[in-house]
Amino acid sequence: MQQTLILLKPDAVQRRLVGQITARFEAKGLRLVGLKLVHPSKELAEKHYAVHKGKPFYDSLLSFLTSGPTVAMVWEGREAVAVCRNLMGMTDGAKAIPGTVRGDFAISVQNNLVHGSDSPENAAIEIALWFGKDELIGWTTTDANWVG
Ligand code: RTP
Ligand code: MG
Repeated sequence: MQQTLILLKPDAVQRRLVGQITARFEAKGLRLVGLKLVHPSKELAEKHYAVHKGKPFYDSLLSFLTSGPTVAMVWEGREAVAVCRNLMGMTDGAKAIPGTVRGDFAISVQNNLVHGSDSPENAAIEIALWFGKDELIGWTTTDANWVG
């Protein structure tokens, strides 16, 4: 089963959208295996977005991610990485399709509410960055036979 890291960024927390956004991942059929509220340090934010170092938006992105609490979650399920990216929608909220999280709730490029790992390989790296092994719970849903 694939796992992916999802962050509800500080704008999602500030705008009180945590419940509505989390409900979408739950309803899709994914299984929650890790969940916590984190106020990220600059060091954590730098590691998380290391791939964007040097880009014009990098400093602003770090300030944004470290500006307040973020909800860190690990979701598990069939094709979890792609499933979550599809639920999130395109990076730019103005271009994201309605029905997606960003399409329904975001109009900014930076303040786009959610982060999702973009590959299973990066998911493993990001999960290890945000969670200790003892913070992840392996379990089975009682409706697994129906949801698949
Ligand atoms: P994420 O990594 O957060 O899931 O977002 P993403 O894959 O859709 O987009 P990515 O290209 O990885 O960019 C990471 C985050 O940086 C901010 N951003 N700002 N001002 C800009 O041009 C710009 N471009 C990207 C967004 O918060 C984006 O989610
Ligand atoms: Mg990305």
